[in-house]
Amino acid sequence: MTGWKRKDLVGLRDLAPEEIRIILDTAKSLQEISLRPVKKVPTLRGRTVANLFFEPSTRTRISFELAEKRLSADTISFTAQTSSTVKGETLKDTVRNIESLKVEMIVMRHSASGAPHRLAETLPVSVINAGDGINEHPTQALLDMFTIREKKGKLDGIRVAFIGDILHSRVARSNMWGLTKMGAKVVVCGPKTLLPPKADELGVEVTTDLRKAIKDADVINLLRIQTERQSECYFPSIREYASHYQINREVLEHAKPDVLIMHPGPVNRGIELSSDVMDGPYSVILDQVTNGLAVRMAVLYLLSGARKKTGEKHAQPTH
Ligand code: CP
Repeated sequence: MTGWKRKDLVGLRDLAPEEIRIILDTAKSLQEISLRPVKKVPTLRGRTVANLFFEPSTRTRISFELAEKRLSADTISFTAQTSSTVKGETLKDTVRNIESLKVEMIVMRHSASGAPHRLAETLPVSVINAGDGINEHPTQALLDMFTIREKKGKLDGIRVAFIGDILHSRVARSNMWGLTKMGAKVVVCGPKTLLPPKADELGVEVTTDLRKAIKDADVINLLRIQTERQSECYFPSIREYASHYQINREVLEHAKPDVLIMHPGPVNRGIELSSDVMDGPYSVILDQVTNGLAVRMAVLYLLSGARKKTGEKHAQPTH
């Protein structure tokens, strides 16, 4: 696990393939901690992590919180809806107050693209992007890549189809950066209005034809229609969208027999994905959630510089 030098993880756009590999390999080595009777190691004992969520989250927030507990960090959890943000306090002032508590790491989700990058530039503490606007969601893409590597044995040459609202998806954007760096082939598919204008410049295939997108795909990663980020009407109706782009049993007959169905969540059951496929044998959606814990433990571990300071080869059990 040598070679990690970065203070922050704000996106996959700037990471080298070797850095992505270090995170995935570290996650692999930390995975077994969650299988122990006592699921805790002292790696981050005495360190404080602040989880700042200015947008709603279920999976990412609880996954980071649990990862921090597994590594014995002290944690502060902040959600905008129950904070002084609702009284008008600015992001800058909120962060300055949290910084005054001498935290070492900040995990942040924010609706403004670039907000974590700004913090990372201005603060001495480590900043982890837990999703910024429509820009990036690096730990989601890393857990997606980890899951594909677990199930398919590799990333190089694997064909991954993203179906849905690509335009507003930070998950798709981080995956596009990450997967292409790791040698995977990416195709993005959805209504023309929900495809980013310059997606082909990112080295990915672009199509509006669902059957073409899934035909040779090893993985189909479904994306939710993000109505909260849409200021205009991108398609006639949800029903019309589902009739063209829903993945269901009939559509899956056109896919490979060993295709993986993935979704970052939250899922709109019966819209982008039928309930039976979501709960069926192709689905690895809950494996993604499980793997997210190991990936976030790895990111916290690497950024904390714990190994460098303590000389630990691997995180050790508490007893
Ligand atoms: N995948 C994901 O980011 O889910 P949450 O919004 O629940 O964190």
